[in-house]
Amino acid sequence: MKLTLKMTVAGALLALGLAAQAAPIVIKYSHVVADVTPKGKAALKFKELAEKKLAGKVEVQVFPNSQLFGDGKEMEALLLGDVQIIAPSLAKFGKYTKQLQIFDLPFLFDDIAAVDRFQASKEGQNLLTSMQKKGIMGFGYMHNGMKQLSANVPLGSPADAKGLKFRIQASDVLEAQFKAVGANPQKISFSEVYQSLQTGVVDGTENPWSNIYSKKFHEVQGYIMDSNHGVLDYMVIGNAKWWSGLPADVQKGLKEAMVESIKYGNDAAFEEANDFRKKVIADNKAKVLPMSKDHQAQWRAAMKPVWKQFEGDIGKDLIDAALRANNK
Ligand code: LMR
Repeated sequence: MKLTLKMTVAGALLALGLAAQAAPIVIKYSHVVADVTPKGKAALKFKELAEKKLAGKVEVQVFPNSQLFGDGKEMEALLLGDVQIIAPSLAKFGKYTKQLQIFDLPFLFDDIAAVDRFQASKEGQNLLTSMQKKGIMGFGYMHNGMKQLSANVPLGSPADAKGLKFRIQASDVLEAQFKAVGANPQKISFSEVYQSLQTGVVDGTENPWSNIYSKKFHEVQGYIMDSNHGVLDYMVIGNAKWWSGLPADVQKGLKEAMVESIKYGNDAAFEEANDFRKKVIADNKAKVLPMSKDHQAQWRAAMKPVWKQFEGDIGKDLIDAALRANNK
C-alpha cells in the first residue's frame, strides 16, 4: 500500500515537472539560397538570437537551398502552416498583391541605397502589412542586391539579347522586361536554374552576385554583364494566424531577433556584394564585362515602357515615391 502511494506521488511530481518544462515552440524557417548569402546569414542569425532571447521556449529550424520547399511551393506551405517563416524574393508575391511588382520595374532604383530608402519610407512600410487579410504578415524587408545579366554570349546593346531565352523568377514584370528587348523569358524555379543553364534550356538569366557565385552560375555562363538593371530583395514573412496565436513574450523576443537578424543580413548585403563579384572574376570561368553608360542608356530606354504597362496595377503614386528615393 505504502509503496503504491509513493509511486503515485512520484508519478505526479514527474508529470508536474514535465508540464513546467513545456516543449519549445518549433519554428521552421525555409529559404532557397545558400547559407553564405545575405539571406542565408540572416536566417542563421535569427535562429541564434531567437534561441538566446527565448531560451527553452523556441527552437528555430533553418532549411536553406530549397531543402524543405522550393520557391514554387513555399508560399502555399506557409499558408498551410507547414512552415512558419519564409523570405521570398519580392518578385514572387504576384498572386497575393500587385503592388510589390514595383520592385521588379527595370532601372527604377539607382542603387541598393535608394531601394533601402524607399523600403523605409511610409509607402514602403505600408506594403509590409498589405497582405495581412490573406494570412501573410510582413516582418521586414531584406536586401540581396542589384541584379546582373548573364548569358552564353556577350550582351552589349539590347539587340544582343534578341531571340535569347532567359530564366526569370515567377514575375509578370520580369517577363515583360525581357520581352521588351525581344528575348524569350521562361519562369523557372531557383533550384533548377543551374541545370537549365548547363543544359541549354535557357541561354541566360539575371541575379545578384551572391546568388551567381554561391550557385555557381558563372560556371555555366560565358559572360556576366555589370548591368545593375534591377533589384532582388526579399520580404521576410510569417503565417499571420500562427503569429497572432503566440504568447506576447514570445512575439516580443521573436520580433527583436527578426529586426536584429535583418540588419545583420542587410549589412552583409551592402558589404559583401563586391566580394562575391571579385570571387566570380577570380574563378575565371565567366568573363565579367562592364556595361558602358551608352549601352546602359539603351537598355533603360528599351525596358522603360514596362513601367507604364504595370502602372495601373502598381499605382503611379507608389512609382513616384520610389523615384523620390533616388534623391539622397
Ligand atoms: C531567384 O529565384 O532567382 C531568387 O529569388 C532566389 C533568392 O531567393 O534569392
